[in-house]
Amino acid sequence: MVVSTPGRPEASGRTAHAIIELSDVIRIYREADIETIALRGIDLEIAPGEFVAIMGRSGSGKSTLLQLLAGSDRPTAGRVVVDGVDLSRAEEDQRAGLRGAHVGIVFQSQNLVPFLTLQENVLLASVLAGRSVDGLAAVAILARVGLEGRADHRPAQLSGGEQQRAALAAVLVTRPPIVLADEITGELDSASAGLLLDLLEEIHAAETMTLVLATHDPDVARRADRIVELRDGRVAGDRRLS
Ligand SMILES: Nc1ncnc2c1ncn2[C@@H]1O[C@H](COP(=O)(O)OP(=O)(O)O)[C@@H](O)[C@H]1O
Ligand SMILES: [Mg+2]
Repeated sequence: MVVSTPGRPEASGRTAHAIIELSDVIRIYREADIETIALRGIDLEIAPGEFVAIMGRSGSGKSTLLQLLAGSDRPTAGRVVVDGVDLSRAEEDQRAGLRGAHVGIVFQSQNLVPFLTLQENVLLASVLAGRSVDGLAAVAILARVGLEGRADHRPAQLSGGEQQRAALAAVLVTRPPIVLADEITGELDSASAGLLLDLLEEIHAAETMTLVLATHDPDVARRADRIVELRDGRVAGDRRLS
């Protein structure tokens, strides 16, 4: 077995033990007689523990890429391997299993069930991930994201930033090795966005997780250790910041 430091690219330029590996990934959406080529041949490797921003304008293919990583969509061509599972070949039940146990995803908004309390939301998320936790664990993870005392509140009783922190708690409670975040600050004012990103950075530093954050905003992307730039469905840049 080869021993190497996670996150360090080997001399060959290939990432050692990639947890995410895309080779020549193409995704074409076909609706009636309209074809949209969302991804035009993506090669990308992400090592365990990396914090990578996928940056690009609206329509550049960021969400499509994250859906492929989450296993909720399959590429038209090419290979997507996430945590050892070849998602380009996997059937839906296997992909659903990966979503539950390995990958957590947070979106721009509406991550929470509105008629459930925060604690119930976290518990539900843990059940859906196939790793149910108890009420105490749910309260503890809510406290971890700064929502102590809010466990019995419903999402509508929280600010947008607090809702996003609760959404993060619901994903983090099962400690998935991979966390995907798609424009999670898109509906927040800059102060709330800053707080959410501070929290995300702090949690990434403290826990062992691979974090992939899609954003159109260069200021948000700068929080990452590495920025992969998408332009028109292609990787137009890939640079390390730290
Ligand atoms: N479900 C879909 N059906 C058809 N076209 C889609 C669908 N999802 C995305 N697209 C198209 O694919 C391209 C990439 O979209 P998307 O991945 O959402 O980009 P981004 O997240 O960077 O804004 C866009 O042209 C978009 O209109
Ligand atoms: Mg998007």
